[in-house]
Amino acid sequence: MNKTWMLLGGFFAAAAIVSLCLLDEAVIAQGKDDQGRNAESDEEQSVEDKLLFVGTPACSARGCHGGIEPLKKDCWQNEFTLWLRNGDPHLRAYEVLKSDQGMQIGRALKAAKIIDKEPHESPVCLVCHTTPWAATGEAERQRTERRFGVGCESCHGVARYWLNPHTRPDFKKTLSAVERRYKYGMVDVSDPIFRFQMCTRCHVGAPPSVDPRDWDGVPLLADVNHDLIAAGHPRMQFEASSFFANLPPHWNPNTPDRVKNDEGKTWALGQVVSAWAAARLLKHRADASTGSPWPEFAEYSCYACHHNLRQDSVRQAQDQKHDRVTLGSRPTKPGTLPWGEWYFSGSYALASEPATHPADAVAKCVLDCQKAMTFGARPFETQPNRNQAGEAASRLASALEALAVKLAKSPPSPAYLSAVLKVMAGPTPTSADWEVGEQTYLGLRTFLDRKQSPAEIKRLLPMRAFPSDVNGPVRYNGPEFMPQLRELLKQFP
Ligand code: HEC
Ligand code: HEC
Ligand code: HEC
Ligand code: HEC
Repeated sequence: MNKTWMLLGGFFAAAAIVSLCLLDEAVIAQGKDDQGRNAESDEEQSVEDKLLFVGTPACSARGCHGGIEPLKKDCWQNEFTLWLRNGDPHLRAYEVLKSDQGMQIGRALKAAKIIDKEPHESPVCLVCHTTPWAATGEAERQRTERRFGVGCESCHGVARYWLNPHTRPDFKKTLSAVERRYKYGMVDVSDPIFRFQMCTRCHVGAPPSVDPRDWDGVPLLADVNHDLIAAGHPRMQFEASSFFANLPPHWNPNTPDRVKNDEGKTWALGQVVSAWAAARLLKHRADASTGSPWPEFAEYSCYACHHNLRQDSVRQAQDQKHDRVTLGSRPTKPGTLPWGEWYFSGSYALASEPATHPADAVAKCVLDCQKAMTFGARPFETQPNRNQAGEAASRLASALEALAVKLAKSPPSPAYLSAVLKVMAGPTPTSADWEVGEQTYLGLRTFLDRKQSPAEIKRLLPMRAFPSDVNGPVRYNGPEFMPQLRELLKQFP
């Protein structure tokens, strides 16, 4: 397999449907023989034996990943201990379902007949709040796993077929990341595409995987839609590179590869993989046969409807003057709902900055999707057409796959990234809303040492922040924020 194939394979991993047709059949077949994956059809096996995940306790023995101090030079083998000690947020993911906030969301959703069990027993919540393969079923291993929250295999892949082989010294050396992923189910978390595909399953959302060839896919919908948000769930605002930077490391951060990590590449691939996940989710939401609510309000700028979450006067004054722009620097008309700004502004800019890279199909697909999705907030206006939106989302998802492969092969130079961020910031004197402003800011942050916070960065904080008692960036003011970002961008090539 050449490099492109490997990357394609990697990127398709979560979708699996296309990838498994494209991937070397021999690799998959051999995986079955080696690993006895055929045994699943064996009716003699108990439910427990058939589970694909082995569970966090299976990783945490003293001689495995539960060492007290680092055991080896590169892979420390005390990852479980660090995970506990550093208070990784994923460890609490199950417990928060039983918190006051979790119970309150549960009560609202039960009243609306959206869930019929307590949150900590409902697959609607568990699919993201524990290791996904433990979200349904009552086998002992599943019940135990839930107590660990989002356990090891949520990100590293189900370990049934790699638990034993991965301890052999040649496992990593002789097998490519694609082989490890497809034959054994192990995810190479050092590769941003593989890694962010796992994160986005829960942090963006994912349609259920129903294709049997996607052997480790999760057949449950993972979706924080407006129903969940209105019931009290935090809105999903995943930005891969900053979330990754905020994860307390349970690994050795000083290995040569990690030290020379290319922040710009991580940011770009994070943008594209997140957008890809959002496009796939939109395709599912748009499909009337799924029974999903439509139009799905979580696709739109929250502050277009919830004026109380924004500084009203500024927004309205701008809308009147038509200088509030949305994707592609298109002006927004008063009363229309801007779509997709959080997830697609970065990919649009990455694809439409031809000065340093040839323009990419993603740019047109984003604008097509925007056209299909944008509609007026007034009730008499027509809703977005489900079929058209679904088809546009599907084309967008495919284009994003190709863009990820392209960016992985030729990572963006600092000059290209700076040009991309300028596209995001939009032409003077226009300004976009908080979602694009915040995304542009987070992109800019990858240029700076994350530990440093110069005064001009600190100054932006009040406008970016959600005050503790409000669920929105009430102090954001585009016409003041964007010029400051444009000024900062001048420092970069
Ligand atoms: C698509 C995946 C997904 C689904 C489905 C989901 N959640 Fe969440 N939930 C998350 C993520 C991710 C976060 C963290 C959000 C963040 O900080 O960005 C979160 C945060 C929360 C929090 C806030 C926790 C805190 O520390 O402040 C609560 C409470 C919660 N979820 C409850 C629920 C309940 C109840 C359900 C089911 C009705 C549910 N979630 C369904 C992914 C999901
Ligand atoms: C939220 C996702 C997530 C969870 C949950 C998680 N990990 Fe990780 N793990 C990562 C990421 C991301 C990296 C490192 C990425 C990189 O290379 O920079 C990593 C790195 C590692 C490494 C180092 C791998 C290497 O090749 O050097 C080991 C070992 C590891 N994790 C074990 C565990 C164990 C054991 C658990 C459960 C206790 C666990 N992880 C839970 C995401 C996760
Ligand atoms: C199986 C679902 C799942 C996967 C996979 C997952 N997460 Fe999470 N993540 C969650 C949930 C649920 C929470 C909220 C937990 C809580 O509030 O205690 C969370 C919380 C977080 C937080 C803390 C957010 C905050 O607002 O404090 C960070 C950072 C984070 N995740 C990063 C990542 C990264 C990076 C990856 C991929 C390497 C990843 N997660 C993979 C479900 C997941
Ligand atoms: C098309 C207009 C529209 C959009 C866009 C929209 N909402 Fe709503 N939202 C509503 C309406 C109408 C209600 C009341 C009915 C309900 O609960 O669904 C509501 C209710 C809520 C509530 C419950 C509390 C309250 O004020 O009643 C919250 C919280 C909320 N929305 C947050 C959000 C967030 C966050 C977003 C962006 C992801 C968003 N909304 C996008 C129209 C919208």
